[in-house]
Amino acid sequence: MTAYPKTAALMARGAEFLGTERAVLCGAMSWVSERNLVAAISNAGGFGVIACGAMTPELLDTEITATAALTSKPFGVNLITMHPRLFDLIEVCSRHKVGHVVLAGGIPPKGAVEAIKAFGAKVIVFAPTLALAKKLFRSGADALVIEGSEAGGHIGPVSTSVLAQEFLPALAAEHVVFVAGGIGRGEMIASYLEMGASGVQLGTRFACASESIAHPAFKAAFFRANARDAVASVQIDPRLPVIPVRALRNKGSDEFIAKQIEVARRLDEGVVDMGEAQLEIEHFWAGALRRAVIEGDVENGSLMAGQSVGMVTREEPVSTIMAELMDECEGALAGR
Ligand SMILES: Cc1cc2nc3c(=O)[nH]c(=O)nc-3n(C[C@H](O)[C@H](O)[C@H](O)COP(=O)(O)O)c2cc1C
Repeated sequence: MTAYPKTAALMARGAEFLGTERAVLCGAMSWVSERNLVAAISNAGGFGVIACGAMTPELLDTEITATAALTSKPFGVNLITMHPRLFDLIEVCSRHKVGHVVLAGGIPPKGAVEAIKAFGAKVIVFAPTLALAKKLFRSGADALVIEGSEAGGHIGPVSTSVLAQEFLPALAAEHVVFVAGGIGRGEMIASYLEMGASGVQLGTRFACASESIAHPAFKAAFFRANARDAVASVQIDPRLPVIPVRALRNKGSDEFIAKQIEVARRLDEGVVDMGEAQLEIEHFWAGALRRAVIEGDVENGSLMAGQSVGMVTREEPVSTIMAELMDECEGALAGR
């Protein structure tokens, strides 16, 4: 007998797919989603996902082993599709019999979905448009995460509420779809479940849990911040592309704007060519998330955070956050 019968009923398909009690994923967060947070999420009945990020296959191997030592529950691995050793990373997942691989950061390269399915794992993908989502399902993807622009980290231009209205009626009857971006409370989870989502994915809400190894200064920045502080990076010049990232505004993000203006001026003056200019912009944030999360440099580092950051006000164990979300979701559904 579950304490959350209405929620459990709506989450049944997602929970079965993940092999968990609750269809609540903690989205992979580079540097944050390592063994401790991932295991804590899975131990609390959710689904933790290791952020592989730029890790080497050797480091991923160590991280999976260490996570498995902390939980006997299922967890997944998030791989960035443009990683130069993607197929070696898939091989590591295969050796560990990882049950679910999340492919993030772009359209999976040829053969990636097949290589993951070949060892029996489920493939979870992201898609910015409905047409691409349908194509990925046809190519063998097992589940989809739709992630709106409220989310922390790399984002698309469309809000979660609009994506949900566009994707869920078209896909949810036949496919497992998780909704991410801007979810801070259980009432919101209830709404997306009612619209047909199989479950939800949160990042920001879990980033500062007691079990998260993020630096105390990183956590303090989250506790201070309001929704309006979590802003999308701005592109100043159409010639110099900037991939939008939502993060807390700080000295680094202000300097990034100044940097773009300066590089555009040098491009106009012919001091740098287009390739050099674009590379300078691209390299500005290299290593910046690590600087903030691990070293606690909240001035110059990248403080990736979603708009739900205003609802993150104190450090709490994952189990407490999860229980709050479930109570709020069940309360909302019971009150309908
Ligand atoms: C600090 C931080 C780092 C992130 N890093 C990654 C990443 O490496 N790969 C990825 O697919 N998503 C990443 N994300 C996105 C999360 O997995 C998740 O989808 C997102 O946080 C959900 O939206 P929310 O922040 O509004 O809860 C990151 C988010 C944050 C806040």
